[in-house]
Amino acid sequence: MKKILVVNGPNLNMLGIREPEIYGGADYADLIDMIKKSADELGLEVDCFQSNHEGDIVDRIQKAYFEGVDGIVINPAAYTHTSVAILDALKAIGIPAVEVHISDINRREEFRRVSYAGMACEEHFIGLGFDGYIKALEYLAAK
Ligand code: DQA
Repeated sequence: MKKILVVNGPNLNMLGIREPEIYGGADYADLIDMIKKSADELGLEVDCFQSNHEGDIVDRIQKAYFEGVDGIVINPAAYTHTSVAILDALKAIGIPAVEVHISDINRREEFRRVSYAGMACEEHFIGLGFDGYIKALEYLAAK
C-alpha cells in the first residue's frame, strides 16, 4: 500500500472561519474526513499534518524520507510564497510531491503568483477548492 503524506501550512486549521468567500464554509476536519475517505477508496495509506510553523513543516517533510513515504501532497499556504526552506526540504528528500491550493493563487494578489514549493512539485492542482487534494491523491495513486 502506498504511503502518502498530506501537509497543510499556516491558517489552514482555520478553514470554515477564515475568509469563507475565498476558502469556502467547510472546516479543516471536513477536509481531513474527505481526504481519508478518498485515500481509502484509492487504497492509499494517508497521514495528514498541519502546522503554522515553517520549521515544523521542514521537520515533517524530512521525516517522510525516513518513513519511506511514497508521495507528498502539500499546500504550504502562505509559506508557498516565501519559503525556500520548504522548497529545499522537498528537493532534499526527492519524494514525488504535488502542490495544492484551494484558491487560484494566479488570480489573486501579485505576491501570491510566486510558488517556491511548487518548483519542487511535479504536478499542481490550483483553484479547485478541496477537490484539488482528491486530484492530487488520484495522481499519486496512478503513478
Ligand atoms: C492557499 C493560498 C495562499 O496564498 C494562502 O496564503 C493560503 C491558502 C490556498 O490554499 O488557496 O493560506 O495556499
